[in-house]
Amino acid sequence: MNIAVVGTGYVGLVSGTCFAETGNNVMCVDIDANKIDQLRAGKVPIYEPDLEILFERNQRQGRLKFTTDLQEAVDMAEVIFLALPTPPGEDGQADLKYILGVAKDLSKMVTKYTVIVDKSTVPVGTAEKVNAALLEHLDGSLFDVVSNPEFLREGVAVNDFLKPDRVVIGTDTERAEKVMRRLYEPFVRSGNPIIFMDLRSAEMTKYAANSYLATRITFMNEVANLCEQVGADVDAVRKGMGSDTRIGKRFLFPGVGYGGSCFPKDVQALAHTSNQYDYEFKILNAVMDVNTRQRFRIADKLQEAYGDDLKNKTIAMWGLAFKPNTDDIREAPALYTIDRLIEAGATIRAFDPEAMDNVKAVYGDKVIFCEDQYEALKGADCLAIMTEWSMFRTPDFNYMSSLLNEPVVFDGRNLYDVERMKEAGFKYNSIGREA
Ligand code: UGA
Repeated sequence: MNIAVVGTGYVGLVSGTCFAETGNNVMCVDIDANKIDQLRAGKVPIYEPDLEILFERNQRQGRLKFTTDLQEAVDMAEVIFLALPTPPGEDGQADLKYILGVAKDLSKMVTKYTVIVDKSTVPVGTAEKVNAALLEHLDGSLFDVVSNPEFLREGVAVNDFLKPDRVVIGTDTERAEKVMRRLYEPFVRSGNPIIFMDLRSAEMTKYAANSYLATRITFMNEVANLCEQVGADVDAVRKGMGSDTRIGKRFLFPGVGYGGSCFPKDVQALAHTSNQYDYEFKILNAVMDVNTRQRFRIADKLQEAYGDDLKNKTIAMWGLAFKPNTDDIREAPALYTIDRLIEAGATIRAFDPEAMDNVKAVYGDKVIFCEDQYEALKGADCLAIMTEWSMFRTPDFNYMSSLLNEPVVFDGRNLYDVERMKEAGFKYNSIGREA
């Protein structure tokens, strides 16, 4: 099939590349000419495992193209995906100006039947607004609007896209349903479902799924905090709970709060939608409050341990990205911790395998950036772990002790066995376990 993807951000690039990988002809569009030049030159602007390989292959074989000319893309496409940003406005509501702007442009450009798909995470009712914008200059028989929320996770985006647990499609016409089924069947050969529903339900599904996952993590963070008080071990509790198939093992890991570009934004947006309908979605307000507190969990522990003396301390920090396998630092707990530590006058020696450039761009020389994880420990009074990169999982503990002033670790991701750390001579403080 011939597909256009408007917006070459995270979702747009991954979707475009993966649609090309299944044999479709894909034209990606962006207004940023510089970005399009880079993409044409084969440069992938984001760090995402496997993406570059697929990108290179499909570009080389001519299935993946780039343009700044929306009309060129519209002329070739049977399906147009809108993968545009929806930044939260001041009131927490998703800003639709990019999506509705493109919809308006499309209303003057489409000349044959085209399916126009909302891929971005957009509030309930957006498809209807896109539909209205298209109707301004376009006959209703020439298009259908579809909502197709994306569930991919950063760091495993290619795999999530190519092998989705499910595909959710909101549509109110059989014609569009047929097109979308044809497009997505290659991705669900294993038998996973393509679930068709009405537009509003599809839009709601995305917010409900992300908000539920954020709630689940937040619940576990509270369980962990309480475990510390009552002397229980959250790891054992997590396993005991997660073995119930109704609960399940995944996404139960406590830590330093959820971050990233999706959960914080989507929980806030769903709470905002509820308010608009005069419904108070109480649990979401609690989730946001608890997560705000949890982000400072490691900073709190450091302040508790060192008090005012923190200003004379050097803290080594492993991990800056909001999670492993990404260079994304949006809403990263590490940044909140850094802010608090700088405010307290502490010195920070940080290492992250991918995200240091992004953090440097924000903090400059307020943070000391180190070449590797051990370099960060040199002369530090303790180590704080903020992101669970695999490379941190089996370090050389003896070497760590020899580099640190004191063998002290504050672990926001529960990477190590408590007993083992004791045996290795560490003072080890993690989340929801014996200190
Ligand atoms: C999330 C969803 O998982 C995707 O399904 C969705 O498509 C995406 O948002 C989106 O809306 O675009 P992502 O933000 O990439 O994906 O990251 P996750 O892997 O879900 O992690 C989110 C946050 O939760 C991270 O800060 C992570 O550290 C935290 N987390 C996750 C925990 O603290 N504990 C867990 O058990 C799992």
